[in-house]
Amino acid sequence: MLILAPMQGLTELLFRRAFYRCFPGAFDYAISPFISLTHGNLRDAEKKLTDVLPQNNRDAMLLIPQILGYENAEFVDLANRLFDLGYREVNWNLGCPMRRVAHKHRGSGMLPYPDEIRSVLEYVLPRIKPSLSVKIRLGYYCADEIDAVVPVLNDFPLDNVTIHPRIGKQMYSGRPDLQKFQRVLPSVHHRVIYNGDVFSVADYKKIRSLFPSVNHVMIGRGALYNPMLPIQIRQQCPEDFPLSDKLQESFQNVPSIPYFIQSLMEDILQMDISHQAKGRKMKEYWCLLSRALPGTEARKRHVLHADRLEDIHRLILEMAK
Ligand SMILES: Cc1cc2nc3c(=O)[nH]c(=O)nc-3n(C[C@H](O)[C@H](O)[C@H](O)COP(=O)(O)O)c2cc1C
Repeated sequence: MLILAPMQGLTELLFRRAFYRCFPGAFDYAISPFISLTHGNLRDAEKKLTDVLPQNNRDAMLLIPQILGYENAEFVDLANRLFDLGYREVNWNLGCPMRRVAHKHRGSGMLPYPDEIRSVLEYVLPRIKPSLSVKIRLGYYCADEIDAVVPVLNDFPLDNVTIHPRIGKQMYSGRPDLQKFQRVLPSVHHRVIYNGDVFSVADYKKIRSLFPSVNHVMIGRGALYNPMLPIQIRQQCPEDFPLSDKLQESFQNVPSIPYFIQSLMEDILQMDISHQAKGRKMKEYWCLLSRALPGTEARKRHVLHADRLEDIHRLILEMAK
């Protein structure tokens, strides 16, 4: 399976819808960017629920919502609310590396405290209706923290465990620690999903050949650097993804990456936000998606220097054609 990684501000509904419209069948499903249980109330969560409401996701890929936080009662309320909306699985974020999050023992900041993880799981699991999966790193301060986390996870009936083999302190620098991942893998009793630095078909093949038992791979930045990547993986790895004739044909007829970028920009124009916010959003996506286009970096940077929304949009359209 190929899974689109959650990326706050990037793989939100807007992106998932445009992506699905252009490349249906590329990903099996997506994990939503996290919904935070901030400060023990659901105000932030309410706002974020818009992203996962089924009526908004009808024309987007299958989704599993993600929760960030440890507030037991709120966790249960939100998970059950998501179940009532139709979600049979929710994902718990134990990987977010941002300092202000991690310092409060949220995200990867909880990995040094396996007893706290146990206490949340003990409270939450018997009380929630959907099944639970978790997304973790190897640790926050050091990669050996996972050695004490895995036995805790093994004690609970989780759906699966996604492992991004970096530590929180690393943020996104350096490389995933594949040796540590390899050492940890046999000790995990749940289905493991690999995540981290799959930017090409060769990267995917490397992960599959190093870890043949791991046949679920989650891709984040790779899908923004090259939106065709999941389709290329499916086409070039028929042993993992036997393609029906129909899918084969549909992949041959997918629109080009420039068309996808144009289409995403059109959707941004339609959003109910200020001109300034639209311009910022276009630039954010452009920084990542423009890597898939020919042309020099200097020319692509023109977009970032433009101020007016019309200019930003026009420059993007000129280069994405
Ligand atoms: C801008 C950004 C936002 C992210 N937001 C989330 C998030 O909401 N939840 C989460 O579990 N991981 C989040 N991540 C981590 C990604 O899901 C993924 O684990 C990470 O990017 C490594 O995978 P990749 O190398 O395929 O991108 C985020 C990453 C980035 C770069």
